[in-house]
Amino acid sequence: MQDDKLQPELKTGTVLKDTEREYTITEVLAHGGFSIVYSARTDGEDEVVIKEIFPNTDEFFRNIHQVVWCLDPYTGEKYRKLAEREYHYGNEIVSKSTSGRMIVLQQPLQIESIDGYPCKDMAEGYYYLLESVRGKGMFLEDLLKKINACDPEYQRFSRVYVAANITFQILEVLKDIHEAGFIHGDLSFANLFVNEPDLETGDLGTISILDFGATHKVEELSGEYEVNASTLRNMAPEIRTKCGDVSYNSDVYSVGMMMWDMLFYHTAEGKRRDSFSDRERDTFISPSAAIKLGCRNREEVRLLNAILKQSVSMDPQKRYFNASQMGNDVSRLIRMLEMPEE
Ligand SMILES: Nc1ncnc2c1ncn2[C@@H]1O[C@H](COP(=O)(O)OP(=O)(O)O)[C@@H](O)[C@H]1O
Ligand SMILES: [Mg+2]
Repeated sequence: MQDDKLQPELKTGTVLKDTEREYTITEVLAHGGFSIVYSARTDGEDEVVIKEIFPNTDEFFRNIHQVVWCLDPYTGEKYRKLAEREYHYGNEIVSKSTSGRMIVLQQPLQIESIDGYPCKDMAEGYYYLLESVRGKGMFLEDLLKKINACDPEYQRFSRVYVAANITFQILEVLKDIHEAGFIHGDLSFANLFVNEPDLETGDLGTISILDFGATHKVEELSGEYEVNASTLRNMAPEIRTKCGDVSYNSDVYSVGMMMWDMLFYHTAEGKRRDSFSDRERDTFISPSAAIKLGCRNREEVRLLNAILKQSVSMDPQKRYFNASQMGNDVSRLIRMLEMPEE
């Protein structure tokens, strides 16, 4: 049987050369189901990120890097199209956006050689350059772990306040994506970057969205939606089961799941609840649990539950229509939580 787990083929020290510059791989940052993300240094010493979208089917390339493929010859073309879509859609969204808080593929690289081995005609469309965000903040995943590791006594804000604020920020950027006519399709803590948070002062930083690999134009969504998101937990049921129409409210589901997870990430390791049963979905948060999270009165509990109910509902029709609509309620909750206690 062939191994369908692909090995990272570029190692630390590998030198890629495109038509203009050389890039030396300094680190493999992430190895996902659809791509490998590398940190690299240019010959001018700039730090950049290179995203390689699977697979590269060049025979010669395979021989020198001993990559194991179990994919048919057409899959290469399919993946190249995925990469192109990620590139074009991401840039279209950025050009229409007002917040500009998205990290997208900047430019395709046409690799001419790898470690001095020429590889003409094979790499175009598979390698893309991104601005590196390393050192500018952290991924939301890591921020939540940090907040979690703080002693609750010293945590400046209640859990519900932190969850509502981060959720609102996500929705602000997502609103731009929806207004441009797209759904993101893969919202998760690993695909959100927080610029310059400062836990000492309680500043939660500014959120940017990245990874437009599952992004679709809503007007082109008729017919079958191609599932290529990586975070199954956050995936709306209509996407997971391929039953029902995929639209803006499929992203709303993912945001609702993240809000739920931010409320209930509960150990020092930042371990999240891994089950979200139908029962929990019906009952939602009891007043006593909501008080533990930081709600102070019945209005706050009611609004929090209403927000969750209208975002993680199994039935897309019962969800908020889009990011903007959910944002209105979340900002109302934040204003309530900010009111001084009577
Ligand atoms: N511009 C970047 N700067 C620094 N790290 C990045 C950047 N882009 C991606 N990464 C890292 O690589 C991971 C995977 O990138 P992503 O675009 O989400 O690819 P995938 O489609 O494989 O999920 C991210 O979660 C992050 O850790
Ligand atoms: Mg990702």
